Amino acid sequence: MIATNVTSIAPDFRMPGNFKFGSGAHKNLAEELKIYSPQKIAIVSDNGVAHAGLVDKLKDVLGPINVPIYTFTDISGEPTFKLVENVTGKLQKENCDLVIGIGGGSALDVAKTAAALLLVENIKPFLDGSQQIETRKTPCILLPTTSGTGSEVTMNAIFGDEEKELKRGIVSPALLPDLAIIDPELTLSCPPRVSASSGVDAFTHAIESYISVRATPLTKIFAEKAMRLFPDYITRAVHNGSDLEARTGMGWVSALAGVSLANAGVGAVHALAYPLGGKYHIEHGVANALLMPYVFEKIGTTCTQEMVEIAEYLQLGDYSHQPAKALQTVVQYLFELLGTLNLPTKLKDLDIPQDSLAELAESASKVERLLANTPYKLSEETIKQIYVNAYYGKGGAKEQ
Ligand SMILES: NC(=O)c1ccc[n+]([C@@H]2O[C@H](COP(=O)([O-])OP(=O)(O)OC[C@H]3O[C@@H](n4cnc5c(N)ncnc54)[C@H](O)[C@@H]3O)[C@@H](O)[C@H]2O)c1
Repeated sequence: MIATNVTSIAPDFRMPGNFKFGSGAHKNLAEELKIYSPQKIAIVSDNGVAHAGLVDKLKDVLGPINVPIYTFTDISGEPTFKLVENVTGKLQKENCDLVIGIGGGSALDVAKTAAALLLVENIKPFLDGSQQIETRKTPCILLPTTSGTGSEVTMNAIFGDEEKELKRGIVSPALLPDLAIIDPELTLSCPPRVSASSGVDAFTHAIESYISVRATPLTKIFAEKAMRLFPDYITRAVHNGSDLEARTGMGWVSALAGVSLANAGVGAVHALAYPLGGKYHIEHGVANALLMPYVFEKIGTTCTQEMVEIAEYLQLGDYSHQPAKALQTVVQYLFELLGTLNLPTKLKDLDIPQDSLAELAESASKVERLLANTPYKLSEETIKQIYVNAYYGKGGAKEQ
């Protein structure tokens, strides 16, 4: 059993400079921008979001301030370091002095990193990790269209490294925006598969940061509330995308879980998901969702009390008198969730070659920044066993 650390000095607690939440909140954007007096605005988004008409919607609300806008929407798939380097170069050339990111985690990660590097001459050392991003001088505003990665409230940006076939995060308080505008209306057009994968991603943030060794009583408030809201809204948001109440509920889940993730960190589920994204381009949310039950089967044994609490938050029952059963119940819920949301349940179905599992385990065991947050110290061998279980699916590995 782990216990939340209540005796040591809590680390800094970070949030975006300002936070607006509510249906229609994006319509006040022009008013919000006045304090920055921008001369040229950059809008960073992706193809799908632009196609859904959301970039035009934003331009319409910006009309009254009459400032030139440079729009970059040439992002498809999850972003790479190369892409963020290109985008930053383009925004520099255009002399933009304020960056607005609108989209899912992919577009927001690019937008906030480009904003932080906009006034930097040689950006390469900040992207290869040899230098830390300390400050951001260009104002940055983020509007999520998925619920979600929580990128609008986190200090993280995650990119693929094409050469090393890995995903890697950049972490800096400079990646928190000046303003996060969470408007559930912007998520109404989000397709079911992305609503499911990014919704479960948000849940992963809540559950992993709740059991993180860096969790504090403050971060747990956010993670707990996210987990309590999740079961009421996820299925509705995925199966009836136009249900604004469900989209609003998921907007809160994503933001609350994101704040907890930003301050307590995530762990082994994310560490094992990174190589699946880097090498096989499995979407971040899908990889996390699929791996979560298999990882928790293993690591949940070290946090029995937390499993009792999580079972209660998820309305799965009171296990305080039989704590050992709580883990089983939570893992069962995680498996059922994949089915309910039509998400893949085993790696075998994602065309991951069976003989790559050892290599994936080697890669995941190097994601030390995240593995260190997990209360269970996972060896490379145990990580491989988790991948094997996830490859064959529930109960399948035991039959091999
Ligand atoms: N910075 C962080 O803290 C953080 C946390 C978790 C994940 N991430 C990163 O976020 C990325 C994944 O983000 P995501 O899951 O939000 O998906 P995404 O941004 O990759 O978007 C997935 C697809 O959905 C489309 N889409 C998104 N919103 C839409 C809308 N409202 N209407 C129509 N189409 C829409 C996009 O165009 C895209 O085709 C990954 O790169 C991951 O590594 C970042």
